[in-house]
Amino acid sequence: MKWVFLGLPGAGKGTQAKKLTANRDVEHVSTGDLLRAEVKSGSKLGKSAAQYMNRGELVPDDLVIAMVVKYISGMENYLLDGFPRTLEQAVALHEATEGNGVDRVFDFDLEEEEVVKRLGGRRVCRDCSAMFHVGFMPPKSEGVCDNCGGALMRRDDDHPDTIRNRTRIAREQAGPLLSFYSDKGLLTRIDAARPADVVQAEILSYLSDS
Ligand code: AP5
Repeated sequence: MKWVFLGLPGAGKGTQAKKLTANRDVEHVSTGDLLRAEVKSGSKLGKSAAQYMNRGELVPDDLVIAMVVKYISGMENYLLDGFPRTLEQAVALHEATEGNGVDRVFDFDLEEEEVVKRLGGRRVCRDCSAMFHVGFMPPKSEGVCDNCGGALMRRDDDHPDTIRNRTRIAREQAGPLLSFYSDKGLLTRIDAARPADVVQAEILSYLSDS
């Protein structure tokens, strides 16, 4: 299984990817998580990436492509969440894997108004990265992670100006990226406005095809 989740920031890619890969022999490869780990470690890549991420801009293609191609090398099953995000990244992945790097692409479709509501209320556990929403998926105790008891935080890039920038850039990049995968017959549209369990059930229905 070599799947890709595409869609606007906040469309629910990470939420669905975590559910799908839990207890399955499939690696959840989130470029956002990989880059945030680099930032936290203070690596050269992390220092460079942080400047772009804090402004809600894309990290340059060459840095992200090198990181992902190295990370997935030799992996049999993966779910790419947030990569590719540009046509250049899609072409590079295609070439690096000799055309065998992707067997299904889901495009999470969600209105921008809903994106703003979802990202504005998102809270992430500082310790285990579990995800919540203050209104749609609240934790049992306010500000405390249900899984590990860690403190829930707002992500640095979940602020109104940055959200607008991320959404605008994602829309600009989407057209060519979707055409690339549609032309290869790999694209499946997902109505991401539905409750998370309903979205997950639809995605699971495609597992038997992989
Ligand atoms: P990244 O971490 O990938 O952020 P993103 O794409 O902006 O996506 P998000 O994590 O914000 O949203 P999501 O779709 O995963 O939604 P989620 O499940 O959290 O990237 C961050 C940054 O890193 C980028 O801006 C860029 O700088 C850099 N970067 C990463 N990849 C890159 C690349 N390939 N190239 C260059 N730069 C790159 O859900 C959101 C909220 O909604 C949560 O609170 C959740 O609880 C709630 N929710 C989820 N589903 C539902 C539902 N069905 N109903 C109601 N609420 C829901």
